Amino acid sequence: MKKLGWGLVGGGEGSQIGFAHRAGSVIDGKFQFVAGAMDIDPKRAVEFGMAQGLDKDRSYSDWQEMLEKEKNRDERLHLVTVATPNVTHHTISKAFMEAGFHVLCEKPMTMTVEEAKDLVEVSKKTGQICAVNYGYTGYPMVRQMRSMVDIGDLGAIRVVVAEFAGGFMADAKDAENPRVRWRFDPTQAGMAAVTVDCGIHALHMACFVTGQKVVSVSSDFGHGIKSRQLEDDNLSAFRMRHGTIGRLWTSGLAIGRTHGLTLQVFGETGGLRWTQEQPNQLFWTPLNQPTQLLERGGNHLSKAAQRANRITLGHPEGMVMAFANLYRDLGDTITAMNEGNRPDELAGWYPSVEDGCHSIEIVQAMVQSAKRGSIWVKV
Ligand SMILES: NC(=O)c1ccc[n+]([C@@H]2O[C@H](COP(=O)([O-])OP(=O)(O)OC[C@H]3O[C@@H](n4cnc5c(N)ncnc54)[C@H](O)[C@@H]3O)[C@@H](O)[C@H]2O)c1
Repeated sequence: MKKLGWGLVGGGEGSQIGFAHRAGSVIDGKFQFVAGAMDIDPKRAVEFGMAQGLDKDRSYSDWQEMLEKEKNRDERLHLVTVATPNVTHHTISKAFMEAGFHVLCEKPMTMTVEEAKDLVEVSKKTGQICAVNYGYTGYPMVRQMRSMVDIGDLGAIRVVVAEFAGGFMADAKDAENPRVRWRFDPTQAGMAAVTVDCGIHALHMACFVTGQKVVSVSSDFGHGIKSRQLEDDNLSAFRMRHGTIGRLWTSGLAIGRTHGLTLQVFGETGGLRWTQEQPNQLFWTPLNQPTQLLERGGNHLSKAAQRANRITLGHPEGMVMAFANLYRDLGDTITAMNEGNRPDELAGWYPSVEDGCHSIEIVQAMVQSAKRGSIWVKV
């Protein structure tokens, strides 16, 4: 079967997230990397594209050129990933969808709720997918958590505790580093910093695993490094649709916690605990019983966790494989759409444009709450 054509905007040489996309997209052989405009600098964009193996005529100096030329080709791209800084996501994703391309947009999907709602509308109107790269939901053991919640192993979910707190923004001397600076500049990052950079992943994961939306929040934003215009620490309480009590701590100041993404889910009849730095293990404690360690790759796991697994038990998988699972979901979905078939239900677990929009609504409510002394704000 012919591979699907894939293009990348942003994610150039030295970028934080480009490699994970370039590697994850092609691991399962569904996509082939054929076009890109990967750098804000036109010369570097062309050179880096060619160094990555793109043909000269498909290694573009900017995304507008890529869009104009790609939309007129007979062999069209099947998916375009947008991995540029936040301020550009709405414009670029919208333009590609309107030209008839499916999009995988980096998080945060947009800067404002209005832009997010606009992308939901554009996706509906054009029939193009606008997925959002909450790539960590691709980990097999995160999918196992969702399956266990779905089938009722935990009973009703009482409490979910989501954390994404690391030391990646803790060095005050780093404030002028261009890769850090834009994240605290409201004109480039949006209404929040660590909340949209990191916390948003943990929040989405809480929604993904529990199958619930957030309905209200109370947030305390802090500026550990005083010169920053946006928060580098956020402790929030939230409530979910079915009454679940939620807690989020996200921070860039937590030196020593390296990546620091964890999720704990406590129900009436059991608790689950997962941490991204040991992603192949999941702690499961049924009520009044000893804790069990579930290992990725085990044949006792759910269909969703087994589908997300590639390598046998004991050989660790990591972040690029988690991203690859989103690409596999999208590849399966796009192929089914092209052939007029129904996609595999599990392929539909990739984060959707509605998920991206819900996250921005939560962040907006958190910003409003933090500005007003942590009062409870409806989402
Ligand atoms: N899903 C994740 O786990 C994850 C992790 C890190 C970053 N991100 C997101 O990915 C996006 C990029 O973050 P990053 O950390 O890689 O940033 P970065 O600053 O390290 O890299 C940005 C890249 O985009 C290029 N670029 C900038 N503007 C461009 C434009 N208009 N056209 C083409 N290329 C352009 C830059 O030259 C650079 O190569 C952000 O939205 C960020 O929130 C997501």
